[in-house]
Amino acid sequence: METKIVLIAQEEPREDLLREAGEVLKNGGLVAFPTETVYGLGGDALNKDSARKIYAAKGRPSDNPLIVHISRMEDLTDIVSQVPREALKIAEAFWPGPLTMILPKSDKVPYETTGGLDTVAVRMPSHPIARKLIEYAGGYVAAPSANVSGKPSPTVAKYVVEDMQGRIDMIIDGGEVGIGLESTIIDLTVFPPQILRPGYITPKMLEQVLGRVDEDETMFRADTGQAPKAPGMKYRHYAPKGELTIVQGDAEDVLVYINRQAAADIQCGHKVGVIATEELCREYSADVVKSIGSRHAEEDIARNLYRILREFDEEQVTRIYSEGFAVEGFGQAIMNRLLKAAGHKVINLSEKDSL
Ligand code: TXA
Ligand code: MG
Repeated sequence: METKIVLIAQEEPREDLLREAGEVLKNGGLVAFPTETVYGLGGDALNKDSARKIYAAKGRPSDNPLIVHISRMEDLTDIVSQVPREALKIAEAFWPGPLTMILPKSDKVPYETTGGLDTVAVRMPSHPIARKLIEYAGGYVAAPSANVSGKPSPTVAKYVVEDMQGRIDMIIDGGEVGIGLESTIIDLTVFPPQILRPGYITPKMLEQVLGRVDEDETMFRADTGQAPKAPGMKYRHYAPKGELTIVQGDAEDVLVYINRQAAADIQCGHKVGVIATEELCREYSADVVKSIGSRHAEEDIARNLYRILREFDEEQVTRIYSEGFAVEGFGQAIMNRLLKAAGHKVINLSEKDSL
């Protein structure tokens, strides 16, 4: 399949191209597009063949449901069977934006889109290109992240092209995304509502609107003996090709540990990469050291994480060490993705000291 790649600036959403992309979606084709979180791989959410094509293009297990993207509040009532008061409240507070709600699905949404579930994930993105595209597509665009299953989500079009060229009809290159990590997912079919995937919208922000909010405890721990409630969270995900280890502890201890470990790995023939904060990055010695941003600029860290993991793949790094980050606020989302990328491989130096 020939994939048409078009460039659209966010400030100047080209109506002609977006209309054309909308037609592709209406006709059952697939179009990758930028959102404020990561690039999405769009298909018509109400067309079961489109859902099947999405799973095939991503190489994704078909029990892993898709998020339905809408652009107008009035369209919500068509795809869900019930809109609880909580949904209206958080829509008012955070839509359009990086928040996905799980709600009971209506008959309009095929089981192919929801991976066989009776619930549907819905999000109204804020990115102007995404919003226009959804309108031209007829209102309902199913879109997982536009990566091949298991790889980090694309934050720039280059990686969409790498993963999807030849597999889908069209790719809209809208430049680098703003947030860089996928939306927060909150399940409103249970009480209290439960966060299934952390993102830019933090538990605190949600609690301010909803009162009590629970969190799926599998988000940070691999040893709960439970399956994650968002089916997609159970797969090894966001994973680079090199073996990634997170090293936590005092900055100085982390530095010494990683440098020693890197030297030993290099001796054994490994190519070693380090993910470092801007404050420390010049102190490391390894084959490739990448600054992920200042420890105090979580938004930069989030935006750089997936790109850096992809770059390590390109550079054929076989061992990666990363500093750890605080698990508070937006930091939760960063550590959740990093832990998944590392398959929960963490060295905790402060625990080692106390043994
Ligand atoms: O930011 C985002 O959410 C991006 C952009 C493109 O909007 N999309 C995204 O989609 O991250 P995807 O497919 O990569 O992740 C969707 C997650 C998966 O973990 C899936 O299992 C979960 O949402 N999910 C979808 N429907 C669900 C449902 N009905 N119940 C529980 N989890 C659901
Ligand atoms: Mg994904």
